[in-house]
Formats: sequence, structure tokens, C-alpha cells
Amino acid sequence: MSQPLQRNDLEETGWTYFHCSDNLAHLVDKAIEIAKAIFALPEEQKLQCSSPETNYQSGWRKPEQIDRPTEVWHISHTDPPESWPVDFVPERTTILELLDQSIKSVGPHLDEYAQNFGGVAGELYESLQRGISVIRLLYYSASDNTIRFSAHTDFGLASLFVAETSPGLELKTRQGEWRLVNLERGKWILAAGEMLAARSAGVIPPALHRVISTPEERFAIAIFLHPDRNYSLAKTSEGKILTAGEFFDRLMGQIMASKNKE
Ligand SMILES: [Fe+2]
Repeated sequence: MSQPLQRNDLEETGWTYFHCSDNLAHLVDKAIEIAKAIFALPEEQKLQCSSPETNYQSGWRKPEQIDRPTEVWHISHTDPPESWPVDFVPERTTILELLDQSIKSVGPHLDEYAQNFGGVAGELYESLQRGISVIRLLYYSASDNTIRFSAHTDFGLASLFVAETSPGLELKTRQGEWRLVNLERGKWILAAGEMLAARSAGVIPPALHRVISTPEERFAIAIFLHPDRNYSLAKTSEGKILTAGEFFDRLMGQIMASKNKE
């Protein structure tokens, strides 16, 4: 990364633009081509890479709701082999290279930032290298629906929005307005997730974002950065350390409870 994270932007809105390296921009170009190729596979082949029994924690998913991407592919280092098409094994290596290089690029800056909130030098970066971060390849079919992915915040430490083939991603500005962002080649967005908000004791808000109408089909790539589950994220009001794993489970529990009420 050629410049450090813009702290003012992060603290006011929860997100900031930055320029990635040429190597990362090149890996993103390849990843977009891979996304186009694997989403174009026959549905029965994609279904074989689907894992409803793990609540789609890896592989391909076709969400049922209209305010969600049309199709998603989750990729991480811990995926079972059947979550990826057998004819695309070298391409998976490219995707994971993009994931690893992104952590190497952004991790030290997040680490430096965490030191403003009592972090020990190197602790967060090392935790990010051990954690299970995820890349999602996203596909949106052309549609006039006003909202394609409803407004939400992400649960991890931070999300990197690295590419989209057609504009659609919007983030909230400091004035509280939605802004259609501009992901040019090599220009990424780092968006704070709920974990970074907790880690900064609320100094950084989690970035609120959504995807709007995509009159052309849209491929996009997002990277979700997670520290390992034992990372000390925050203290509860009783002074107990809350780990990243406990924090994530708590948020997921709240989501499941609200779904069960619907
Ligand atoms: Fe998101």
C-alpha cells in the first residue's frame, strides 16, 4: 500500500480509499476473470460446491432473498476441496494469493492503527495472518430492483472492496448520504467492520454500505479480514476480555435470533 490508511476518513465514516500495489491490481484482474468463468459453470456443477450443512461457510451459494447478491462464492484457506470446481484448482491458488498479499499489504497499517488503542506492536498483524479471512466473489444479474444488497455493516475487522465490473456499491458519507463509490483499477476501499469498531472502543464506526440497482450484470470482489478467534478485541462492562471469536459468535447469535422471530 503506497500510503497509510486515512485516519480522519476512518474515524468519521468508517471507510477510506487507498491505492493497492501493481501486483495486487494484477491479481484482482485475474480474479475477476476467474469469477466470470466459474459463475458461468452449469448450475448442477456449482451445486456440487455448495454446503448448506455448514450454513454456506464455503463454496457456492445462491441466496433466496431478492435483496442479496444473485450468487456468491466464498473462498478461504480452510475450505474443503469439494467447495471448488476440480477444473479450476490453479485458479484457486491465484485467489488465495490475492487474499494473502492483501493481508500483507493492509495488515501492518491496521496493526499500527490498533496501537493507538493500546495494542502491542505486531499483535494484530500476526493475528490477521493466523485468522480465517475470506474472499467473496459476487455475482449480480442485471436487474431494475432499486436495492440489490440492503444496507448493512460487516462483522469482521475490516472489509476490502477491491473490484466491481459495473458501479453499484454505495457507502454512507460523513454527511449521512449514500455515495456511489468508484473502484477504479488499483483503487480499493477499506471499510471498518464491527470488530474494528469494538477494537477502537467506538472511535471508528462500522462502515454502512449497500448495493443498488445494477442494470448490467455485475461481478465484484470483497475481502473480509478476520483476526484469529483468540485475539483480544475489547473489554466488557464487567472488565472481562472479549475475544474476536466470542464477539463474532455473539453477533451471529443475534442475527439467528432475529431471523427466528420473523
Ligand atoms: Fe458487506
